[in-house]
Amino acid sequence: MRHAVYATLAAALAVTAPFAARADDKDVIEYRQHAMKTLQEQTAIIGEIVSGAVPADNLPAHAEAIALAAQISAKSFDAKIPGGETKPEVWTKWADFSKRMSDFAAATRLFADTAKKGASLGEMTSILTQALPCKECHDIYRQEK
Ligand code: HEC
Repeated sequence: MRHAVYATLAAALAVTAPFAARADDKDVIEYRQHAMKTLQEQTAIIGEIVSGAVPADNLPAHAEAIALAAQISAKSFDAKIPGGETKPEVWTKWADFSKRMSDFAAATRLFADTAKKGASLGEMTSILTQALPCKECHDIYRQEK
C-alpha cells in the first residue's frame, strides 16, 4: 500500500519537475499577473476594513498578505519577459521600474509590521497611501488591454 503511494508520488513529481525547472514566457507572464491579482483582492479587503464594512480583526493578516504579494511581484519581473500588459518602458527604464518595485515591497513590509504591532486603524490608514502606489506605477508602466 505504502509503496503504491510512493510510486504515484514519484510519478507525479517526474511529470511536474521539468515544468517547474523551466517555465516558458507565457508562464512567467501569468505568474506575475496572478501575483498582481492577489494584490487586487487583498487591497479590496483593506478597503472594506477601512470603510467599516468588515471588522478590522484580520487587518494584520491581510497586510501581511499584501507585503508578501508585493515581494513576489517585485521578483516576478526580474526574468525581464516582455508581454502581457507590461509596457516596453519597464525594460527600457528598468532602473526606475525596479526601484519603484523595491520601494513598494519595502513600504508594504512596513505596513504589515506596523499592523502586527497592533496599530490602530487610523494609524494604518495614514500609511496606506504610501504603501499602495498601485495607480502611480500602472499609469506609467501598464497598458490595460
Ligand atoms: C512598480 C509598479 C507596479 C506597482 C507598484 C503595482 N503594479 Fe500592478 N501591474 C504592474 C504591471 C507592469 C502590470 C502588468 C503585468 C503584465 O500583464 O505583464 C500590472 C498588472 C496589474 C493587474 C492586472 C493583472 C492581470 O490579471 O493581468 C492588477 C489587477 C494589478 N496590477 C493590481 C495592482 C495593485 C492592486 C497594486 C497595489 C497594491 C499594484 N498592482 C501595484 C505594475 C505595478
